[in-house]
Amino acid sequence: MTDPEGVQFLQWCLPRLHLRWPGFRKVRRQVYKRISRRLQELGLPSVGAYRDYLEDHPLEWATLEASCWISISRFYRDRSVFQHLESQILPQLAQCAAAGREKELRCWSAGCAGGEEPYTLAIIWKQRLASRYPTLQLRVIATDIDPLAIQRAQRACYRTSSLKQLPAEWRAQAFETIDDELCLKDEYRGSVVFTAQDIRERAPEGVFHLILCRNLVFTYFDEGLQRATLERLKASLVSGGALIIGHLESLPQGTLGVEPWLTRSGAYRKAWQTTEKNL
Ligand SMILES: C[S@@+](CC[C@H](N)C(=O)[O-])C[C@H]1O[C@@H](n2cnc3c(N)ncnc32)[C@H](O)[C@@H]1O
Repeated sequence: MTDPEGVQFLQWCLPRLHLRWPGFRKVRRQVYKRISRRLQELGLPSVGAYRDYLEDHPLEWATLEASCWISISRFYRDRSVFQHLESQILPQLAQCAAAGREKELRCWSAGCAGGEEPYTLAIIWKQRLASRYPTLQLRVIATDIDPLAIQRAQRACYRTSSLKQLPAEWRAQAFETIDDELCLKDEYRGSVVFTAQDIRERAPEGVFHLILCRNLVFTYFDEGLQRATLERLKASLVSGGALIIGHLESLPQGTLGVEPWLTRSGAYRKAWQTTEKNL
């Protein structure tokens, strides 16, 4: 498939999936590869023929959609976000939770890919914060639509390249080398639970002090789906809880009910409601 053919095809099919082309511009070649493989499986000669096939076979849209799951991630991705979490957001959330005699600091990593993001949170908590809040346990629910990503996450073994941004000292403490991979030690894994789940349909049960929803909804979903999903995210946050989106992402215009957390872009706090005292 040539690039112009691929662009034309994506610009045709993405809106039908409620996804947005600008989000896919940089990663489009990854999607082309998967679509080309699918054309071979189906014995189709071109994307044009695939378009006709999609028109005649509605069930094929689910396969096409799965070709659009981009699972790129890294440990400590966007260092400044995690520095901010460590120095400001997690301590504030933990203090409030501990003051309210809560036993758990509940976090949701939505679109967790191979586990890099929720495990980064677990490493920061264990290495930098846990000793300051001895009455609190970190609990992270990590969800992704892709069952293969969930399997990789549960295995928790990675190539060195996934860990390049993690401070070397943390890497040395949290991982052990097994064959040619770095595997997360058990004591960092216990606080994270993985579930295959579609964020368009549901959120994990309960409410969370912190939600990480980075490089998914506000990059790939169209505006209507962003707004609907944002309502689900807000409903899953305690009042005063934190929502973190990707550092290049923004919330839909006119979003109500969350306010920027200090001046850090990408971090929002759910507005306090006078009748609620969740934290
Ligand atoms: C680019 S990764 C982001 C990983 C991580 N949050 C980060 O920022 O490094 C996006 C993830 O979202 C998942 N995803 C895509 N559509 C989803 C959906 N509807 N519900 C839940 N996860 C989804 C993909 O499978 C992929 O693993």
